[in-house]
Amino acid sequence: GAVPILTGQQTRVFQYRAKLLKGPDNTLVTLPDSYLGPLIQLQRGQKVRIHLQNALPEASVTHWHGLHVPAEMDGHPVYAINPGESLVYEFEVLNRAGLHIYHPHPHEATATQVYYGLAGAIRVSDAEETALELPSGAYELPIVIQDRAFDADNQLAYGHGMHASMMGNYGDRILVNGRADYQLDVDSRAYRLRIMNGSNARIYKLGWDDGTPITVLGVDGGLLAAPEVKPYLMLAPGERLDVWADFSGRNPGTLLTLRSLAFSGALPSMGMMMNHSSLPLGSDFPIMTFKIARKIDDSPKLPKQLASLTPLTLNQCSNPNQPRPIAISEGHMAMLLNGHAYEYNNPLPTERIPVNTIQLMEIFHEHGGHGGMGMGRRHGSGGGRHGRMGMMMSMAHPIHLHGQQFQIISRSIEDADDAGYASVRDGFIESGLKDTVLVMPGETVRIIKPFQDFKGLFMYHCHNLEHEDMGMMREFLIE
Ligand code: C2O
Ligand code: CU
Ligand code: CU
Repeated sequence: GAVPILTGQQTRVFQYRAKLLKGPDNTLVTLPDSYLGPLIQLQRGQKVRIHLQNALPEASVTHWHGLHVPAEMDGHPVYAINPGESLVYEFEVLNRAGLHIYHPHPHEATATQVYYGLAGAIRVSDAEETALELPSGAYELPIVIQDRAFDADNQLAYGHGMHASMMGNYGDRILVNGRADYQLDVDSRAYRLRIMNGSNARIYKLGWDDGTPITVLGVDGGLLAAPEVKPYLMLAPGERLDVWADFSGRNPGTLLTLRSLAFSGALPSMGMMMNHSSLPLGSDFPIMTFKIARKIDDSPKLPKQLASLTPLTLNQCSNPNQPRPIAISEGHMAMLLNGHAYEYNNPLPTERIPVNTIQLMEIFHEHGGHGGMGMGRRHGSGGGRHGRMGMMMSMAHPIHLHGQQFQIISRSIEDADDAGYASVRDGFIESGLKDTVLVMPGETVRIIKPFQDFKGLFMYHCHNLEHEDMGMMREFLIE
């Protein structure tokens, strides 16, 4: 069985502890021996009321990552509450079926609060998903992947300092659902794995250790139209994957390990030197192991079609020829979006979007004016906004946009033959609906995003939480 990591008395663990005031009994599912908050199970169309009570020694607020809720319910940092205070959330679940996240979003303290334990999963179901009869109950497994470091007293240790914030904070132990060396006994049949990257900064390249390709049912915003098969899958902080894992025909005693496979290119070479973790980003390591414990003769079959998804198209966009920019710049000791760091409580952000429109947006690395990674790099003569030199200095950023999920319409890379990019390029799912997208160095991603129903301030930011806290965040004013 699995070994609980919290063996010593933890002196600093922040925990979401939930109790159900009203609703069906299966709304809250506690993960055994875990600091993670309970899995919250919701139905599309359900009206939800959540009381947040702050029992922490510092201010906090909770964001429902992936849910389409009004601005005042979205956990914007201006709504943070002080110790002892409480806040009531009320919203209707408008999302289709999918796996989402709840986590804190206070100004400049998101990374540490998540690191010390505040995070949980939200599972939304709907009629379309239920009709598919995908593996459920004991055959549907939440898998929240995080990396943590522990000090000599077995306490969670958060690395402070420049290295941690410029590259993000990395731990050297991999936890699944809050536990290390995670192993599960399974039957020889199909399972549905609901995977979430709950790490502060670590990007995973998921693959089966025996080389079996990975079958994907869904991404951040729910099921794909049809399953897709990939040799491996990239999973950046904030992203989710819905995976079909079929252990049929495997003999009892067989071990199957989900690994993070080797990759490169997510950090500049100088960043690799500064990444002192004994588990460097991009190294190969096990995440968790499945042990076939019981032989079972029948198993559900993989459906050929999953969901009816109408693609968002360019002619629905109010700006089909003029994408709204989301420019990433890696300045001197700063990570910026559209040339600015986050300005807390600025009533008039520059990014304004008319409500009930659909927008074409382009996320790209901007190279010019700023020294890359604090190295005082000059604008290369190679030209363009992401020349070769820029690529070598920049890093991968998981860009997350609050509000409704978007569709990726294109990814283009400055240098497709780059060895780093070649080690990740087959791990992206471009179909389906997303709220977080990993943008590799030299890469430009175009998305179509609806801004429907709700006016107000919505955040967009890097989901490398150290980057978010250092100001790699902006907001849209939807008006
Ligand atoms: Cu999961 Cu604004 O974040
Ligand atoms: Cu979010
Ligand atoms: Cu970033």
